[in-house]
Parts: sequence; structure tokens; C-alpha cells
Amino acid sequence: MKHIASLVISCTVIFLATIANSAPEDKKTGLIIAEYWETVRDNCTECHSAKLVTAQRGTLKTWTDIIRWMQATQGLEKLNAKTEAQILHYLASNYTPKSRGRRAPIPPLLMPPKPYPNKAKE
Ligand code: HEC
Repeated sequence: MKHIASLVISCTVIFLATIANSAPEDKKTGLIIAEYWETVRDNCTECHSAKLVTAQRGTLKTWTDIIRWMQATQGLEKLNAKTEAQILHYLASNYTPKSRGRRAPIPPLLMPPKPYPNKAKE
């Protein structure tokens, strides 16, 4: 019974932490609503779904490379410098490699006791 109660509490905490962590997203495109998100919606969902954008993570360099690749091979027009800077700022801040990463490790002090002895029994 005690185990079930602690399991329910753990699940609730994880659930609430997940909700608290998730940034608001635009319902239609799934883009995180943050500075310049509309610029990205207006320039980056014309040829493909925004899902292709939101599924990707990258540093400023990765995002710049992706845009250059689309310009070189996929028919993306040269963007005006201000628009491109806003798009890159948005992508590199909201879709960074670690923005949806794993949580930090639990400190040893908060870990449950080991259920087995350190040494194998003889
Ligand atoms: C002129 C059309 C066009 C526009 C506009 C466009 N893309 Fe693309 N993009 C493509 C094509 C074509 C692909 C390849 C689709 C596929 O593989 O199915 C692609 C693929 C991608 C990918 C996947 C790359 C990979 O490695 O798989 C990402 C991420 C991406 N686009 C982001 C963007 C962003 C950000 C913008 C806004 C600056 C944008 N796209 C605007 C045509 C476009």
C-alpha cells in the first residue's frame, strides 16, 4: 500500500514537472510561442509542415547550415538579413540541442538505498 501511494505521488510530481516545463505552443503549427515565432511560421511553413522544424534541434551553426542547405538545394530563396537573424535567433534559442534533453541526474543523497549489498555473496 505504501509503495502504491509513493508511486502515485512520484507520477503526479513527474506529470506536474512536465507541464511546468513545457513552453506554450501554437496549436496549429506546434511552434513554441516565443519572440519571432510568427516570423518562423510565415517563412518556414510554406513548403513543408512546421513539424519538420520542431523535430529538429541545433545550435546556431546547425540552423544556419540547414537554411543554407535549403537555399542551395531545396529552392529556399535568400532571406532578408533581418528576417534571417530573427529566424535564427528563434531557432537557436528554442530548439537547442539540450532544450528537450534529459533531466539532471538525481543527487546520490536523494537516491533510495541500494537493494543489494555491494559485494556478491559467497
Ligand atoms: C522553398 C521551400 C522551403 C522553405 C520556404 C523552407 N524549407 Fe525547409 N525544407 C525544404 C525541403 C524541400 C526540405 C526537404 C524535405 C524532405 O526531406 O522531405 C526541407 C527540409 C527542412 C528540414 C529538415 C532537414 C533535415 O536535415 O532533415 C528542416 C529542419 C527545415 N527544412 C527547416 C526550415 C526552416 C527553419 C525554414 C524557414 C527558414 C524552412 N525550412 C523553409 C524546403 C523549404
